[in-house]
Amino acid sequence: MASFVQGAYILAALLFILALAGLSKHETARRGNQFGMAGMALALVATLLLVLDFLGTDYIDQGPVVVGLVIILVAGTVGAVIGIRLARRVEMTGMPELIAMMHSFVGLAAVLVGYNTYIEDAALGVASDAVHNAEVFIGVFIGAVTFTGSVVANLKLSAKMKSSPLVLPRRHQLNLAVLVSSAVLLVWFMLADGWGGMAPLVVMTVLALALGFHLVAAIGGGDMPVVVSMLNSYSGWAAAAAGFMLGNDLLIITGALVGSSGAILSYIMCKAMNRSFVSVIAGGFGSDGTVSGEARDYGEHREIQAADVAEMLAGASSVVITPGYGMAVAQAQYPVAEMTKRLREKGVDVRFGIHPVAGRLPGHMNVLLAEAKVPYDIVLEMDEINDDLPDVDVVLVIGANDTVNPAAMEEPGSPIAGMPVLEVWNARDVIVFKRSMATGYAGVQNPLFFKDNAQMLFGDAKDKVNEIVAALG
Ligand code: TAP
Repeated sequence: MASFVQGAYILAALLFILALAGLSKHETARRGNQFGMAGMALALVATLLLVLDFLGTDYIDQGPVVVGLVIILVAGTVGAVIGIRLARRVEMTGMPELIAMMHSFVGLAAVLVGYNTYIEDAALGVASDAVHNAEVFIGVFIGAVTFTGSVVANLKLSAKMKSSPLVLPRRHQLNLAVLVSSAVLLVWFMLADGWGGMAPLVVMTVLALALGFHLVAAIGGGDMPVVVSMLNSYSGWAAAAAGFMLGNDLLIITGALVGSSGAILSYIMCKAMNRSFVSVIAGGFGSDGTVSGEARDYGEHREIQAADVAEMLAGASSVVITPGYGMAVAQAQYPVAEMTKRLREKGVDVRFGIHPVAGRLPGHMNVLLAEAKVPYDIVLEMDEINDDLPDVDVVLVIGANDTVNPAAMEEPGSPIAGMPVLEVWNARDVIVFKRSMATGYAGVQNPLFFKDNAQMLFGDAKDKVNEIVAALG
């Protein structure tokens, strides 16, 4: 049985690698997901067989094995039911907060596995092994940081906690002090025997929980996409650490795959958002938290009505649409696709400009536009369209805010300073679709709304685009 399980684990690991490869392209993403699901199903069955193998063996007390099996089956069933319900209910816009919650579970699991391993060894009087102790300690540390960090990310993404950065005095020194103290506690824990390691383990856990909270609380709303992918990476390393503690090769491999692919994604996102990878890991980057554009007086904004926008569009020769989170909230992608079709039929050149972090998920806008059957070839990345914007007649900013905010380029103290944005204000006219003058996700006021060539079209994006479609005839 053991060799069958090992074989199944290797196959599952291969399926996970194929899943990652598939997920790297739109066309193969669905197949990638299927590989991942098959790998996970195989891993679950193999692990169950491993437990079943203990049943009937004379040298192992059968009571705990049966209890363990019942717990696995009950917990697995309850987990599956909750998972299916959540997956069915969750809106696309709610995915990042759900993912953050999942990461927190991985972190908590690593902490519990670490404590369980330690308590079991201490209770059974297993001789202390420094390397094994280090595995337990590091696993609990990464797990605790991931747990509270992910809980904060979940609260920020679901707007239950304010998205502006928490700026404590000497915050970087505080983080460093926690790291140094944890290193000292690690040495104490490695050298301790029996129950002697409990004190350093508990103290480190409290410090690591505080560190996870602080690292993510210190990061501003606009930078949350990088944080989510970073926590994804941490959760992978936490799982790998749990794999070391449990002596489970598949968990080590899977954790390392998630950890390293999350790290690569974080690096790519850091580059896209002009952030330093090292400062992401250190927490609280991109802002010294001193200035927010909110307090400034940018002057008066101008309003426009849907019928006038329709007239402006019909008379334009080139139009660029930059969608954002509000398009997803309003589910406006279908009328947007219809408006695009009608304008193209009238000979207007319509293109889309997509910011790398528009919406709440990597590729969020691309998925919505593909769903509404907007042709791929007119959907361009920010870098592909920015230079063309000065020659564009009309830009329609549909439910986007931070991703078109000139403060990122013009206000060095802004929490989004340095983030590349769609430079829509360079076009002849800009129409901004939103419901109010409220700020975007990063909580920063947008000077675009007050520029001479910008006009606000207030209301739900779907209703407004429908009105334009009707007026276009
Ligand atoms: P946001 O800055 O979030 O702004 C969206 C705007 O849509 C809001 O100002 C809101 O204004 C408007 N809106 C909401 N519902 C609407 C509706 N029904 N009709 C019309 N307008 C509506 O959007 P963005 O430009 O896409 O930027 C994304 C932000 O999210 C960035 O800060 C990014 O860093 C962050 N983020 C991104 C990700 C990823 S990976 N993409 C993950 C987490 C966080 P009103 O309330 O006035 O209508």
